[in-house]
Amino acid sequence: MAEQKATNITWHDHRVSSADRQTLNGHKVAVLWFTGLSAAGKSTVANTVDHKLHARGIHTYILDGDNIRMGLNKNLGFNDADRTENIRRIGEVAKLFSDAGLIALTAFISPFKADRDQVRSLFKNGEFHEIYVNASLETCEKRDPKGLYKKARAGEMKNFTGIDSPYEAPENPELVLDANTRSIDELADDVIAYLASKGLLSA
Ligand code: ADX
Repeated sequence: MAEQKATNITWHDHRVSSADRQTLNGHKVAVLWFTGLSAAGKSTVANTVDHKLHARGIHTYILDGDNIRMGLNKNLGFNDADRTENIRRIGEVAKLFSDAGLIALTAFISPFKADRDQVRSLFKNGEFHEIYVNASLETCEKRDPKGLYKKARAGEMKNFTGIDSPYEAPENPELVLDANTRSIDELADDVIAYLASKGLLSA
């Protein structure tokens, strides 16, 4: 839990509410929180879902691990405390995007259950959707698009998720994607079907 350091601060409610923005945009807000091992396909699926939602006139934005770590979170590494802080910040940013009337898609390993639950607690019921991109370590290691598993196995990288740093799989995610066998397009369609079933694709 991050400590509240500043004192003498007051929350301001703004005249344009999140509900007003949802009405203007013609769709509800949501956070689609993709979690899974490195190379499971989180970013690629999120990217495809983003494209499909955009084509339907839905306002979206993607927050992606590698990209955010080059900017907002450039001062964070991969020890447990830094990963927790990474996810805390992304949760807060996703909340801002949701408040701004968008569907936010996040693609972070987010390996710790407590951190994901903490983010969930920021949102109203029905707004946070944990999507487990379920690909086995074996599948991810076989893919190894960035050669990172190989480096980690060779001991050239420390704290690599799945090798010498844990991944706590979600126990009750809203959606599980079988990323071992299904294609990216099929997985993205699974997400769209899920969103439709929840009434999230129209006002
Ligand atoms: S998280 O654990 O804090 O959620 P995040 O999703 O932001 O991780 O970043 C993961 C990405 O950083 C991976 O896809 C990989 O490209 C890169 N990376 C570099 N070092 C590591 C590491 N030690 N463990 C996992 N991913 C790493």
